[in-house]
Amino acid sequence: MKKEKGKIKKIAINTGGGDAPGLNAVIHAVVISALNRSWECVGIRDGYNGLFLPENYPKGGLIELTREKVENITSLGGTILGTTNRGNPFKYPMKSVNGQIVEIDRSDEIMTAFKRNQIDALVAIGGDGSLSMANNFAQKGLRVVGVPKTIDNDLDETVATFGFDTAISFATNCIDRLHPTAQAHSRVMVVEVMGRYAGWIALECGIASSADVILIPEIPYDIKKVAEFLTEVTFKKQNYAIVVVAEGAKPKGGDVSVVEKEMGKAERLGGISDIVAHQLQKLVEKETRSTVLGHLLRGGSPTTFDRLLSLRFGAAAVRALEEGQSGIMVALDPPTVNYVPLEKVTNRMKVVPTECDIMWTARDLGICFGD
Ligand code: F6P
Repeated sequence: MKKEKGKIKKIAINTGGGDAPGLNAVIHAVVISALNRSWECVGIRDGYNGLFLPENYPKGGLIELTREKVENITSLGGTILGTTNRGNPFKYPMKSVNGQIVEIDRSDEIMTAFKRNQIDALVAIGGDGSLSMANNFAQKGLRVVGVPKTIDNDLDETVATFGFDTAISFATNCIDRLHPTAQAHSRVMVVEVMGRYAGWIALECGIASSADVILIPEIPYDIKKVAEFLTEVTFKKQNYAIVVVAEGAKPKGGDVSVVEKEMGKAERLGGISDIVAHQLQKLVEKETRSTVLGHLLRGGSPTTFDRLLSLRFGAAAVRALEEGQSGIMVALDPPTVNYVPLEKVTNRMKVVPTECDIMWTARDLGICFGD
C-alpha cells in the first residue's frame, strides 16, 4: 500500500460497470465526508467518459458535487453520475485505417485531464473491471481509492460488496411469488438470475425461497439428473417445482449461454433458463415456464444492509485518502472496514466454494444441484 503525501484540495468520484443499489449512498457519504474536510468534490459522468469526451456533455463532463446535489439520494437506485461498461481507457476500442476495430491505450489522456482539472485524487466505485482500471491509474501515479460494488458478490478480499443484498432480497420476493402460480398449474418454473460466472445470487436467493433445484456455474449440471430428482423426489411430495438457474450455469462438458460478445465489452450471458426449461419439459411430465429476472435485480432502493455498507465504504474511502492511502480498496472485514491493495483484488473472482456452510445447508435441505 502506497502512502501519498500532499494536501488534498479536490477529489473526483466516478461509477463504472453495471449499476448496483447503493451507488448513490456511497456518493453521498464521499461527498459529505469530503466537504466536511473542506475538500472540493466533482463527479465524472459515465465512468471516465466525462473526462475523455467532455464535448459530449452539454453541461460539462464533470458535475460539481455540493451538499444540495447529494441530499436525499441515499435511498435511490442507479447512479446520479451515470455509468458505463464500455470504453476502458487502457483498451479503448477504435477504428483503424483499414476499418478494423483495435484496442488503444488512451490512459495518458485521462491523466492529463485529471491534472488539467486540478483533481488530486479519485474515488473509483466499481466492480472488477473498474477496480482494475483504478489499479492501473494508481500505478501511473494517480491517488486512487476503490470502493467495491457489484450485485454479483464476486469480488475477493471483502466479505461483502454493496448491491448484493438488495439483489437477493428482491429475487427471493420474486421467487416467493412463483410458488403459488407454479402450484396452481402443476408446473416447473425455471427462474434465471444474474451473477456472471459466480453462483452467489442463485444460491442465496434459491435457498431463501425454498427452491427445489439450484444450478450454479461452480457445479456443471446434468439435466438428466435434474429431471430424475424432480420425478423421484420433488413430485412425490408436491405437484410443482422451482428451479433457480444462474445466468452463468453450464451443463457438464458444455458451455455458458452467451447472448452477445463485442470488442471492448465483457460477453453478455443469458438464455440458460429457456434452454433448461425446454429440456426439462421433454424429460418430466409437467409443463415448464421460464422467467428471467435480469436487470430487475439491479433496480430499486438499496436495503438497509446495502445502504449502511455503502455509507461506511464512502466514509472510509475519504478517511483513507486523508491518511495518504492510494492504490487500495476499502473492504468489509467485520466489525470494521479495512484497506486492501487493489492489485490483490483485480483479475481474480470470488466464486462459490463447493464445500462451505452455505452449500452444506442447501444439501441438508435436500436441494439438488444437478450433480
Ligand atoms: O455485473 C453485474 C451484472 O448485472 C451481471 O450480473 C450481468 O451479467 C451483467 O452485469 C449485465 O450487464 P449489462 O447491463 O451490460 O447487460
